[in-house]
Amino acid sequence: MHDALWTNCHLATMRAGCGEIRDGALAVTGGRISWVGPRSEWPGRASEEHDARGAWITPGLIDCHTHLVYAGNRAHEFELRLKGASYEEIAASGGGILSTVAATRAASEDELFALASRRLAQWRREGAAVIEIKSGYGLDLDAELRMLRVARRLGEAITVRTTFLGAHAVPPEYRGREDDYIEFLCEEVLPAAARERLADAVDAFCERIAFSAAQTQKVFRKAKELNIPVKLHADQLSDSGGAALAAGFGALSADHLEYSSEAGVQAMARAGTVAVLLPGAYYFLREKQTPPVEALRRRGVPIALATDHNPGSSPVSSPLLVLNLACTLFRLTPEEALAGMTRHAAHALGMQASHGTLEVGKQADFALWEVQSPAELAYAIGANPCVGRVRAGTLSAGC
Ligand code: NIG
Ligand code: FE
Repeated sequence: MHDALWTNCHLATMRAGCGEIRDGALAVTGGRISWVGPRSEWPGRASEEHDARGAWITPGLIDCHTHLVYAGNRAHEFELRLKGASYEEIAASGGGILSTVAATRAASEDELFALASRRLAQWRREGAAVIEIKSGYGLDLDAELRMLRVARRLGEAITVRTTFLGAHAVPPEYRGREDDYIEFLCEEVLPAAARERLADAVDAFCERIAFSAAQTQKVFRKAKELNIPVKLHADQLSDSGGAALAAGFGALSADHLEYSSEAGVQAMARAGTVAVLLPGAYYFLREKQTPPVEALRRRGVPIALATDHNPGSSPVSSPLLVLNLACTLFRLTPEEALAGMTRHAAHALGMQASHGTLEVGKQADFALWEVQSPAELAYAIGANPCVGRVRAGTLSAGC
């Protein structure tokens, strides 16, 4: 006997391609998926039945790269960029990430929690089941841990994976002493985050305006020592060899990748590192160089997508918009885009055993959509066809 059965629905299981099952049935038991298939083949009995009213059901969306916790905003820098200043120039003059650091350091845990919860509501409305949230706007012991605690607290409303991003920028008090800052991160902040079990992964920003390959490697070595998986902001503004560096550490993912070389893509393929593309940042910074999608496809590197929500380069609060941007700007197919926010995004977080597809044994986290086909999710801009969201088998009120 199964706990509950969903019928009068079409399923995009996302097992391979979209894994479409028209007129499907999906059963849930103990918060996990206990049966999936065509309704005509449903063999069992369930205590409860749900009529999905013809909706499409997909795995809950997974946003595998965000900087959701911060205070303040950077609308002023948006205006400066529209007048001709570049993202790198603004960062070099002390604005950029550091302006968000100042605002975040000044905010209490409760203030940060209230701001992030308000933002998070949009992900839930759009059928998200999992969100990854990075630190990186604290850059000192207290504020980095505060950000991660806030991220953990947000896990009551949605499944959260936290990532320690202390190596996001050099804080003002360490200006000119970058190596000392890296040492401080490795000896004090990261071990403290690990002790409190606040970091599910470790990330760094490897770029000419941030940290060198050698500094990134030092952080990654420490992460490995602490047994925490790594991921990397790689090759966003220049080819810094980030893709290959990440692959060399067996990273879960290398993210951005606009300037990654063929050799970098090859290294990722060998290491099984997922490519996380972030079309919101590409769009908002009006970048010209697109990531090497063709090479990623050719070499079979899984492509995930994420909002990269942050106040500077991607103030995007819509996973659905990202599906569309990936198709229009990076030429992904709608099917690739949806896989990028389900199956491959789960993989980018090391959660492929429990999330990302509708398969027996996986957590019953799924979304119901009033659409005619899964492709519609990537096609429409600004529409939100989500009509239901199920977390561990339980239906949330609307989307
Ligand atoms: O992913 N690239 C570095 N970090 C963020 C931007 C952070 C910011 O500008 O505040 C990103 O784009
Ligand atoms: Fe980012």
